Amino acid sequence: FSPLSVTASSPSSSTTLAQSQGLNIKLIPTKPIEGQKTGTSGLRKKVKVFMQDNYLANWIQALFNSLPPEDYKDGVLVLGGDGRYFNREASQIIIKIAAGNGVAKILVGKEGILSTPAVSAVIRKRKANGGFIMSASHNPGGPDYDWGIKFNYSSGQPAPESITDKIYGNTLSISEIKVADIPDVDLTSLGVTKYGNFTVEVVDPVADYLELMEDVFDFSLIRSLLSRPDFRFIFDAMHAVTGAYAKPIFVDKLGAGLNSVANGVPLEDFGHGHPDPNLTYAKDLVNIMYGENAPDFGAASDGDGDRNMILGGEFFVTPSDSVAIIAANAQEAIPYFQSGPKGLARSMPTSGALDRVAQKLNLPFYEVPTGWKFFGNLMDAGKLSICGEESFGTGSDHVREKDGIWAVLAWLSIIAYLNKDKKPGEQLISVADVVKKHWATYGRNFFSRYDYEECESEGANKMVEHLRDLVSRSKAGDKYGNYVLHLADDFNYTDPVDGSVASKQGVRFIFTDGSRIIFRLSGTGSAGATVRLYIEQFEPDVSKHNLDAQAALKPLIDLALSLSKLKDFTGREKPTVIT
Ligand code: G6P
Ligand code: ZN
Repeated sequence: FSPLSVTASSPSSSTTLAQSQGLNIKLIPTKPIEGQKTGTSGLRKKVKVFMQDNYLANWIQALFNSLPPEDYKDGVLVLGGDGRYFNREASQIIIKIAAGNGVAKILVGKEGILSTPAVSAVIRKRKANGGFIMSASHNPGGPDYDWGIKFNYSSGQPAPESITDKIYGNTLSISEIKVADIPDVDLTSLGVTKYGNFTVEVVDPVADYLELMEDVFDFSLIRSLLSRPDFRFIFDAMHAVTGAYAKPIFVDKLGAGLNSVANGVPLEDFGHGHPDPNLTYAKDLVNIMYGENAPDFGAASDGDGDRNMILGGEFFVTPSDSVAIIAANAQEAIPYFQSGPKGLARSMPTSGALDRVAQKLNLPFYEVPTGWKFFGNLMDAGKLSICGEESFGTGSDHVREKDGIWAVLAWLSIIAYLNKDKKPGEQLISVADVVKKHWATYGRNFFSRYDYEECESEGANKMVEHLRDLVSRSKAGDKYGNYVLHLADDFNYTDPVDGSVASKQGVRFIFTDGSRIIFRLSGTGSAGATVRLYIEQFEPDVSKHNLDAQAALKPLIDLALSLSKLKDFTGREKPTVIT
């Protein structure tokens, strides 16, 4: 039996048949499978786990069992992914189960390709009921690595916890999978195919997204920059999904040179890479941007195209600064924001650089817990336009996901706007110039994150307990070395739109000079516990803005390590990653 052949050993023996929408529907008996709880960004496991009998099929059916029928019956769903290994098989399974459950139409990206922000864009543009994203984001792909699935709702945003909790509940009681008896769908060419009353439309992964980008940005302004001989641009797609977008957008539409796209072909294993755009994993790009004769602008995006990293020649823009600078320049440089952003927001551990922009522009400002899903309600309520996270996520209310290509286009717009009157041969305003000028205006928020990956969970949990205990015993005015405590807590968030509460989102120590020490356990790791330590210090004095962040933050980092007893609890001398 083909649709579940990769996941079901011999389902046909006890299969029964039903009829719906002019299709034969097979009702395949199944049993619950342990461990299908959805994390922050969908269900993520090793490929080998997903290849077990009915593993994916159970989860997809559990999802349909969890949605109210009006959310999918006779409705339209979008399907796409980052091109990783197992997406082809998974696409067929998802399409057949969707048809089996009464979905009227699936819009699927050609070859199964759609970036996460593009899925969000297609859902919104085509007024679909929702969509599936086949991706494990920045985690490596291939037979021995990761696979994942996310479900987004009709506004294009990740399904809320109320739904993902329900899906998990249903994975524990599932007994039957409804599969339409249709052949494998050809995803290699664009077009519409009908099976009874069920339709599959294979769509261009880029078209709807590109149209949206052309609405948001002034493409001729960006083109005026990218086609200059004295401006050199490089975009590293890391052999991931933005490879499908980079050439059509940067080269064909915006006039960048063909050589400006590196690793531009999406591969099932991302070319053995770890498609996470940061200083550690985007090493090739970093070497180019810090090497001899470096280009003027470098950027990269992750597996599914929602993260971004921005670099100038020998210059790294921290994600916290990046969102602040985009917000500060948006109204002038980006047509979508020509009436000014409605409001700004960041996740709690992200530096306060954005707060200062909100203050200066007199804009509503929100601090939410880590996780893009917390921005969606604010956007739907018209309270928020531009937001970002320290974890290399930047975006706006043009979709309901963070958006890597959008961030690159936003930066190019700013650089293009500031250089629009520069004659050939005149020195251009660089990425570093823009950032330094921003610091001079607003002050610099030095920021760094230390990650301690794959710690023993027990030690990490004990450390958090110790920190919570410390919080409960501390009060404003307490002295911590040279720092005086303003506030210590475990971050709590009440959504201003629906009143929902998220508690225990990270332990914070905020000092009277605005410095912050924050501890969180990662919600996205796949083995053990990852401790994240975030350090921030505000520096108004321009003469100190050129200090190295690690040097500037050394006293606070030492304080963080000693008050947390991190070494004692985790046994770790050093972080595994520093950003
Ligand atoms: C994903 C989410 C982001 C979030 C990040 C945090 O990438 O999409 O919104 O910031 O995870 O990960 P962490 O490992 O710190 O929980
Ligand atoms: Zn991602």
